[in-house]
Amino acid sequence: MDTDLILSCKQLFKAYKMGATRLEVLKGVDLAVAKGEFVAVTGASGSGKSTLLHILGALDKPDSGTVLFEGSDIFAFNNAKINDFRNKKIGFVFQFYHLLDELTVLQNVLLSPMVSSGALGWLFRSKNAKTTALKLLNELGLSGRIEHRPFQLSGGERQRVAIARALINQPDVILADEPTGNLDSETGNDILRVFEKLNSAGQTIVMVTHDDRIAAKAQRIIKLVDGKVTTN
Ligand SMILES: Nc1ncnc2c1ncn2[C@@H]1O[C@H](COP(=O)(O)OP(=O)(O)OP(=O)(O)O)[C@@H](O)[C@H]1O
Ligand SMILES: [Mg+2]
Repeated sequence: MDTDLILSCKQLFKAYKMGATRLEVLKGVDLAVAKGEFVAVTGASGSGKSTLLHILGALDKPDSGTVLFEGSDIFAFNNAKINDFRNKKIGFVFQFYHLLDELTVLQNVLLSPMVSSGALGWLFRSKNAKTTALKLLNELGLSGRIEHRPFQLSGGERQRVAIARALINQPDVILADEPTGNLDSETGNDILRVFEKLNSAGQTIVMVTHDDRIAAKAQRIIKLVDGKVTTN
């Protein structure tokens, strides 16, 4: 095994059953991501980019095929281990942010470590977690927004909060699904610069985008066509 690989998949198949019809979306996807890589996944709308990303992050399961994280098959993990993988090893960033409007910016970023610590653990962990969250928010230019609620923020600010939330557990891999898809091009470029900076500091990133201009910022572009990966 190539020891530099962090996340890879082999022969992923996924179909959605809709009544009598069966929609084959992934038809044998192979992909290998090395530590520290910034990979863009492109392809037409409906080509299965989100489906693939969700499977890579264990938010969904393939019909067949394997996903290996540091050489281990994630779908062979027990429940506790797969939750741990999803929560601690992977950081998700979505097109529509998925922040909770009931919580402040700081609380949104702290939610995952709080839930995974449990009440007693949180007594011990909260101070460090809060320091980390404030540091991340500061680095993302949000120190003046920590008590805001997501609906009081601009789109770019919301996405930066979502990035801070994704980074709070120091994930090994960031999986981002159209992170600039809901933003104007200038704000989208700001978000890309955040990803580029994270990547230069060693962060592994897999980013889905249908926009070739945005994909061009990544080190490597893979394309989904007809349910398979084509490199170009
Ligand atoms: N839960 C589901 N049930 C049924 N069909 C689905 C489901 N999720 C996705 N699909 C279908 O699978 C195909 C791939 O969807 P997916 O969301 O992965 O595409 P995508 O490449 O991310 O597209 P986009 O660029 O528009 O986000 C689409 O044709 C979609 O309609
Ligand atoms: Mg999608």
